[in-house]
Amino acid sequence: MSELKILVAPSMLAADFARLAEETKRVEEAGADWIHLDVMDGHFVPNLTIGPQAVSALRPVTGLPLDVHLMIEHPERYVSSFIEAGADRITIHAEAAEDLPGLVRQIAHAGKKVGVALRPQTGIEALRPCLEEIDLALLMTVNPGFGGQAFMPEVLPKIEALRRIFKRHIQVDGGINHETGRLTQSAGADVLVAGTYIFRSADPRQAIAALKGEGPPP
Ligand code: DX5
Ligand code: ZN
Repeated sequence: MSELKILVAPSMLAADFARLAEETKRVEEAGADWIHLDVMDGHFVPNLTIGPQAVSALRPVTGLPLDVHLMIEHPERYVSSFIEAGADRITIHAEAAEDLPGLVRQIAHAGKKVGVALRPQTGIEALRPCLEEIDLALLMTVNPGFGGQAFMPEVLPKIEALRRIFKRHIQVDGGINHETGRLTQSAGADVLVAGTYIFRSADPRQAIAALKGEGPPP
């Protein structure tokens, strides 16, 4: 799938939370395509992060799409708040949604791009009820919950299998750097989420270019 244009979505989880607006602008200027915001509730995953208030605070800061990754139980209770907050793209976990096709439709009818995420252990059959409706499938390449974990190569065959049947965005998230990113691209992924690799880099612009295959790693 080398003809796919590679998009990079920096995960703000690895940014300096005291300076989220500046960090958002910094990665926008460094060539980011989307801003990836990780929402965690302490139930679906054992960590807590941000809610709709932070999304609406960042909305005026950037012209880039806000790509909201909901790692929460009962996503149906909260999607409308994230839509109102200014999310452009909302990704829900298949494992968390009670009525996955219904929730996908609700987000799409609100005019937002909708994605469905799978934990590394969840098979792509879980996408079947909504595969025609979604704009993006997120195949987690770590167990969701924390930044800075090691990439799980066992997800690569799942990316290949999904790419055979799915023509829209395949996003990968977790442990992505220029090497693991290239492996996922060869398997068929086209949207790379990266937190640690971009924000811990001395040169985020070079890190983003390396993820896109447009230059050497920093
Ligand atoms: C993990 C989050 C990721 C995380 C990625 O549950 O969904 O977006 O921030 O961080 P890195 O790139 O550091 O693995
Ligand atoms: Zn994420």
